[in-house]
Amino acid sequence: MTEQESTAAATGFRGTKSRPRILVVDDTALGRQVMEDLLVPLGYEVMSAENGADCLEMARRHLPDLILLDVVMPVMDGFTACEEIKSDPRTRQIPVVLVTSLEGRDSKLNGLSVGASDFLSKPIDKAEVTIRVKNLLRIKEFEDFLQQHNEKLDEQVRERTRQLSEAFEDLRLSKEALNRSYLDTILTLTSVAEYKDGFTSNHIKKVGHYCKLLATEIGWSDEEQQAIYYASPMHDIGKVAIPSDILLKPGRLTREEFALMKTHASTGAAILQGSKSHVIQLAERIALAHHERWDGGGYPRGLREDEIPLEGNIMNIADQYDALRSERPYKPPLSHDETFKIISEGDGRTKPSDFSPLVLETFRDSNGRFNDIFESFHVKGTEDE
Ligand SMILES: [Fe+2]
Repeated sequence: MTEQESTAAATGFRGTKSRPRILVVDDTALGRQVMEDLLVPLGYEVMSAENGADCLEMARRHLPDLILLDVVMPVMDGFTACEEIKSDPRTRQIPVVLVTSLEGRDSKLNGLSVGASDFLSKPIDKAEVTIRVKNLLRIKEFEDFLQQHNEKLDEQVRERTRQLSEAFEDLRLSKEALNRSYLDTILTLTSVAEYKDGFTSNHIKKVGHYCKLLATEIGWSDEEQQAIYYASPMHDIGKVAIPSDILLKPGRLTREEFALMKTHASTGAAILQGSKSHVIQLAERIALAHHERWDGGGYPRGLREDEIPLEGNIMNIADQYDALRSERPYKPPLSHDETFKIISEGDGRTKPSDFSPLVLETFRDSNGRFNDIFESFHVKGTEDE
């Protein structure tokens, strides 16, 4: 089995075209008639032209399956006509056989260089013409079939690609909806602790934005930025275990009360521990570390510097900023400038050495956007009255 036959079998080619069309081009009526008398009885549809110019016009209009092209003709010779046919995308697939009385190597090379598929010598040998025409038409029919087959495949690929794009878009939208519902669930559950704390300031929503902003500026990946956005609102979940009279006490806490209050960090971590979710695991580390201080003066473990996970340092400064800006039973809300000054320079209780130098520098560089986040909640009427 030849390579073409193998391909034909693989593609289902059956050669079903019924009546191939042949364009005979010759400047003599006798030449045209000889060909017609030979080809019509063989079942071919034959049309004719008298010169190269007519040949081009008919080739473009009728798209024959084969052109038998005389070489020496008035108006436009066969070489020029063949070159034109092969340079036109509409006709370049049509096989051209040069029918010539010209002998010699140069003439054949010239024919090949302009794209001829084959040659026939004048005077023609009828048996030779019959075989060559049959073979070339068979090849042309197979090429047409392959082209149609490829076009169908291209169309199928385009359709599958479109379906795949739609499926990906559906998946993306579903993932977004799932993330939104996940965040809503977290915020709803976490708001229990916030509600018990007596806050009505959307603190947990704002810290998500603050933390994401810092993580972005520090250079965390998109995935990690999203993770801290979802995880950070859970930092005070351990307050559900703190008695309300301590959480809501308007004055200063006693030493014993403050000791109990401090347990909310480790209690929060205990509530969150054991999850396989990356976000919950991050939330656990944040809950445990968000009151640690860079200089070692924090709780619950008194970690210092790089012992503290970066997410804890990020949460710490976000928490401090929002606490200073918010009203509490024991203090009025501060402006952005007052808050920025306290975090940057300290006020006796809060001091710059509390914070990771990297996170503090990032906060300083992006402090205006902290104010934007705070104000955006305030404008919506969700901030403390
Ligand atoms: Fe806390």
